[in-house]
Amino acid sequence: MLQKVRKAVFPVGGLGTRFLPATKAMPKEMLPVVDKPLIQYAVDEARAAGIEEFIFVTGRGKVTIEDHFDRSFELEKVLEERGKIDALETLAEHLPQTGSVAYIRQHEPLGLGHAVWCAKNYVGDEPFAVILADDLILSEKPCLKQMIDVRDELGGGNILAAMEVPHEHTSRYGIVKPGFDDGKKVEIKDLVEKPDPQNAPSDLAVIGRYILEPTVFGLLENQARGAGNEIQLTDALSSLLNTSPFYGLRFDGTRFDCGDKIGFLQANIAFALQRSDMNREVADFIRKMAADL
Ligand code: UTP
Repeated sequence: MLQKVRKAVFPVGGLGTRFLPATKAMPKEMLPVVDKPLIQYAVDEARAAGIEEFIFVTGRGKVTIEDHFDRSFELEKVLEERGKIDALETLAEHLPQTGSVAYIRQHEPLGLGHAVWCAKNYVGDEPFAVILADDLILSEKPCLKQMIDVRDELGGGNILAAMEVPHEHTSRYGIVKPGFDDGKKVEIKDLVEKPDPQNAPSDLAVIGRYILEPTVFGLLENQARGAGNEIQLTDALSSLLNTSPFYGLRFDGTRFDCGDKIGFLQANIAFALQRSDMNREVADFIRKMAADL
């Protein structure tokens, strides 16, 4: 029987240099889109996809993430005394169950591949998901759920979220060399980390959602540093391609790169426009502010 994906790893050990000075003393994963921090969207997405255990790979200055996923008795007491039941309910509904959350410290930000490797003892010998909170996806069905459904349909394998990017942007992503392609699912023949447009095997990029077999840990263990002098997840995945099936899923939804200032602002606007309690006011404001451009 196909082993269920029960665990998700959230690498949150990056420095967030593209978002300085906002990220000097605050993790970028705590930046709010409308009224929820990015990491909360990631955890909610994982829960909606049936994930039961949440593993955060943190770094220096990330304790606010731990506090965010903890109960706050003082705050709860004050809210109770003031009769703020809605706020209390909001706090409760976003909290993962006690005992389902683990934190592991990445001692040095050596790259995404290294961050994932740090979680190996918590993941053990089972398939797992990786979610990068700064890749925020607006979709009807949560992106990770779409990927788990495709894995069920295919009977297993490594599944990566994929999307077409402008040809001139290939050097920002891991790029797929495609095999069989039904327009939605793409067999991945090879992966190239951040290729220049003239060397890119396609315009299909891998973004921050992965379902991986635990064999990846063995490869990450000995993975040399790659692009940017970091231990790249993509490099380890390329080595796995010969022995383990890999598919890309062109997910339904819009992805926002919230590690980038413009992507983050776009996400705030897009998510606010989805909210019935504020969309009219926000749309009117945008029209007014942009009228003279
Ligand atoms: P990024 O490439 O966005 O790097 O990492 P970054 O350091 O967070 O941000 P910039 O580029 O300096 O602005 C992609 C994901 O991998 C995690 C990040 O937290 C982010 O979710 N990561 C990266 C780690 O957990 N550890 C690392 O050593 C590097």
